[in-house]
Amino acid sequence: MIIRSAEFVISNTDVQKCPAPNCPEFAFIGRSNVGKSSLINTLTNQKSLAKTSGKPGKTQLINHFLINKEWYLVDLPGYGYAKTSKSNRKKWGNFIEEYLLTRENLYTTFILLDSRLEPQKIDLEFMTWCAENQLPFSMVFTKTDKLSRVALQKNLAAYKKVMLKDWEELPPLFTTSSVSGDGKEAVLQYIQELIDTV
Ligand code: GTP
Ligand code: MG
Repeated sequence: MIIRSAEFVISNTDVQKCPAPNCPEFAFIGRSNVGKSSLINTLTNQKSLAKTSGKPGKTQLINHFLINKEWYLVDLPGYGYAKTSKSNRKKWGNFIEEYLLTRENLYTTFILLDSRLEPQKIDLEFMTWCAENQLPFSMVFTKTDKLSRVALQKNLAAYKKVMLKDWEELPPLFTTSSVSGDGKEAVLQYIQELIDTV
């Protein structure tokens, strides 16, 4: 897919105020600091379309970006950010869950996972929640520039092993780096395929 334009549209905690659901939408979610906003910038060839930070908890809202005047890309706040208060975390849960469960034009969600880590309980729980709610998703491993190919394969194998204990098949899986651009074309091509076929 060629990115011809990428524009910020609106930020929200109110699902009702998100843009009219009149075109395909793809959301990016995952733990705080996993690299959601960075990957969005890499995918769209932008430096700072989505705000990034070395500190977790940067993205706090549902952010809509219109790509090629044709589909929405959505940057979501991270989960598992310990420094946010309990009530804030609950609020997070509420509006993100509402968004994921009710957004009718959401084609799929990309769940970002840090490729340097072993399978994390919070990520496995979130993927289980998506599956239970019949929300389609892909696994996107981030920051692959930070580890060796061997270490990456080892971590992917560990994830596959845990998931196949409970599930018959794995969701689509991507490996990415916002630094090297690795995996960018594969993700964009997948988005294009879904736009063309759904
Ligand atoms: P929140 O909005 O806080 O939930 O975080 P986020 O998931 O949007 O993460 P963000 O994109 O802000 O990136 C967090 C940190 O990781 C930043 O310091 C980025 O520069 C760094 N980072 C993100 N992606 C990569 C990557 O592919 N490689 C490397 N080396 N660093 C990355
Ligand atoms: Mg962010």
